[in-house]
Amino acid sequence: MRLFCQIVFAAAALLTLRAGADDFQGSTHKVPYDEEEVIDYSRQPASGPIEKLQGRIDRGEVKLKFDPKFGWLPSLLDALNVPKSSQMLVFSKTSLQRQFITPQNPRALYFNDDVYLGFIPGAPVMEVSAADPKLGGVFYTLALEADEKPKFLRANDCTTCHGAAKTLGVPGHLVRSIATDEVGEIDQSNEISYITHRTPFADRWGGWYVTGQHGEQVHRGNLIGAKAFINFEKEPRAKGNLTDLGQFFDQGKYPGHGSDIVALMVLEHQGQMHNYITRLNFETRIMMRTYGHIRYLRTQVAGFLRYLLYTEEEPLTAPVAGNPGYVKWFAAQGPRDPQGRSLRDFDLQTRMFKYPCSYLIHSEAFDAIPAVMRDHLLRRLHDILTGKDTSEDFAKISAEDRKNILEILVATKPNLPDYWKTPKLASDAKAGPDARE
Ligand code: HEC
Repeated sequence: MRLFCQIVFAAAALLTLRAGADDFQGSTHKVPYDEEEVIDYSRQPASGPIEKLQGRIDRGEVKLKFDPKFGWLPSLLDALNVPKSSQMLVFSKTSLQRQFITPQNPRALYFNDDVYLGFIPGAPVMEVSAADPKLGGVFYTLALEADEKPKFLRANDCTTCHGAAKTLGVPGHLVRSIATDEVGEIDQSNEISYITHRTPFADRWGGWYVTGQHGEQVHRGNLIGAKAFINFEKEPRAKGNLTDLGQFFDQGKYPGHGSDIVALMVLEHQGQMHNYITRLNFETRIMMRTYGHIRYLRTQVAGFLRYLLYTEEEPLTAPVAGNPGYVKWFAAQGPRDPQGRSLRDFDLQTRMFKYPCSYLIHSEAFDAIPAVMRDHLLRRLHDILTGKDTSEDFAKISAEDRKNILEILVATKPNLPDYWKTPKLASDAKAGPDARE
């Protein structure tokens, strides 16, 4: 009964919020994901990449090596296929281990499509998050001490920050841009939460180090303390376009080099995309249980698709270049169509990607969205890509982008419904919405 009341309340809240904001950006109230009947987040076992690795460790199929300097990190990067080149460094005190983080000892983050690893030199544990297909973001700590069989401990209390408004109200991932003082203490009056591909460059990366080229575009990375921010007003480019962070701290404390601008941009797109996927998954399950249909989620679906198709992406006004190793690794993960195209091909001239449809459409988490919603999403997406959907929301996507994305998906996404493969529809798309006037 309590659950029912909460669901009705949540649904009512949704309807009210919809009047003011027409997508998840406004609907960030917490989904009741810990109620037993539907999601049961904290009690359900996870089944994502960390559980799989733990299973292999326990069965003796994998043996992690403890490095005297970096602990489990190098071995974990290998075992989970997370590139060292994805290294990003954050010095704002935004973690459970805040006392270890300073501008001279930043927290390092590394990630691939479904695992995020946090490492602070000298701290007792690593902080890890994973994208679980059913549960959304799942959190763990791993003690940084030599052990025969290291054990990841699930840490549900991380959701005080990782499962509230800043993560779309579901267990998930977040990136903040926040000013700090000289020791990394945050100044909440100077915060921009949360950072996604929609956030203007000039608002990004407060509290982070940033390496890479970005031309005339300014950002708030590499600024430590009030003086740096005052100086930033006068000389906004003084700490931009850095290739090295040696002026700030001893870089040898980390296995990678720098704090890559491209990795940061990917993280910001991806973390929030994961949150959207989780939110739609949870809301669908709750709606199906309460009403037996998903019709009340229409605006959420539109918001989801706009994010998936980068329709509100902040355009680049100068080319961006990051760590070539990261760019190469990222693009090499495929899949590719017979013409060699992939949703992971970077543009980095005027926007992030050449073909603006999130590569997370290939993720296990996307496929784990309940069938009733996944089918609906694929139908809407097909209508958009073939030009049948003429709504304002997607009007900006060019006919060429639609055609390319449609062709890439047909060639690379298994289990698409049959209507995706009808050549007649694909050739309609070649004409595109512009040609149908
Ligand atoms: C006080 C709030 C807070 C708590 C509690 C917290 N985090 Fe975070 N976490 C953050 C913020 C903020 C970021 C984004 C980095 C930034 O902008 O500083 C982050 C980022 C991360 C990331 C990078 C990718 C992602 O998932 O967003 C990992 C991994 C992570 N945290 C793990 C954990 C784990 C594990 C715990 C619990 C043991 C935890 N965090 C508890 C605030 C918190």
